[in-house]
Amino acid sequence: MNLHIGVLSGDGIGPEVTNQSIKILTAIADKYQHTFTFQHELVGAIAIDETGNPLPQKTLNLCLEADAVLFGAIGNPKYDNNPAAKVRPEQGLLALRKALGLFANIRPVKAYDTLLDKSPLKKHIIQDTDIVIYRELTGGIYFGEKTLSEDGTAASDLCSYSKTEIERVAHLAFKAAQSRRKKLTLVDKANVLETSRLWRKVVTAMASQYPDVELDFLFVDNAAMQMVLNPSQFDVILTENMFGDIISDEASVIGGSIGLLASASIGEKYALFEPIHGSYPQATGKGIANPIASILSAAMLLDHFGLLEEAETVRDAVERAIDLEICTPDLNAHGGYSTENVGTFIEDFIENVDALHINTGNIKVGQSTII
Ligand code: IPM
Ligand code: MN
Repeated sequence: MNLHIGVLSGDGIGPEVTNQSIKILTAIADKYQHTFTFQHELVGAIAIDETGNPLPQKTLNLCLEADAVLFGAIGNPKYDNNPAAKVRPEQGLLALRKALGLFANIRPVKAYDTLLDKSPLKKHIIQDTDIVIYRELTGGIYFGEKTLSEDGTAASDLCSYSKTEIERVAHLAFKAAQSRRKKLTLVDKANVLETSRLWRKVVTAMASQYPDVELDFLFVDNAAMQMVLNPSQFDVILTENMFGDIISDEASVIGGSIGLLASASIGEKYALFEPIHGSYPQATGKGIANPIASILSAAMLLDHFGLLEEAETVRDAVERAIDLEICTPDLNAHGGYSTENVGTFIEDFIENVDALHINTGNIKVGQSTII
């Protein structure tokens, strides 16, 4: 398969982790005789610095032409603490999601057995957790009308949803549930919000098309509590834009590091793959950023194009790295493995998956790990 991949590595640790994913995708292309080409463009703070625009036209054009987009991270503290800033890096990502029509954001959350004691949550609570969150991504309060009064003392953000916007993401979530443990939980705030009541009505009406899926509902405040109290009760979670943003960061605690959580953003025509973590400016250039979330996002890219065996090969290699504790300091504080070391081990493992012996001692000195 030929794939032209637009790479928007963005700010902070974005480029470091995205480089590892490119390495992994290249290894997969070699192993399975695919041709993947990568073309880079600017997005976020770095794009503002160089062009004044967080999503330059050239970048958008690349995304519209490419088969898929591999996204790094955006954000820079110099904009966060300045409420008067007119342009912000995040606007680049939001504009891109809207322009590409990426209405569904899919975020898998899994508790890896070897990492159970890395989570601040108790082992028996997180064991067997395997959730996928379907977050609506181009509607709701993120994109509703925003106002600020002339004297700057009052502001508003409109939250609105249409039946069509709810249905298209809900169909994907129902289908995901059908292929998994057949449970779908709609997270909303239907006791207060009119939009949430519409979500319940629309999703309930759809349930008869998916008779094998058990549908239940949870208010978002309760869901936030259940996520840390009993996360293994969840299979597929469906929710609106902002609740999905919050719940998925919370869920990342289960895995032991936000550096493990991948995501795919899907629309009718386009698809973008990105780690859920941010630009982690304090870590930039230090080689300590966990590349696994980005690499697992690349695996989701492979899944998206039906390259299921290839995706599985990536996930197996990632699991092997985790099992052997070849992980960055967020997961292995004393291992001394860098972003690059972890990426290279996963790459080596993909290239030599049948090799029986792994020399972990070679990893840090940048030599082949397979003997
Ligand atoms: C995410 C991020 C974005 C969001 C920001 C960077 C705009 O937090 O992808 O979860 O809120 O959607
Ligand atoms: Mn977020």
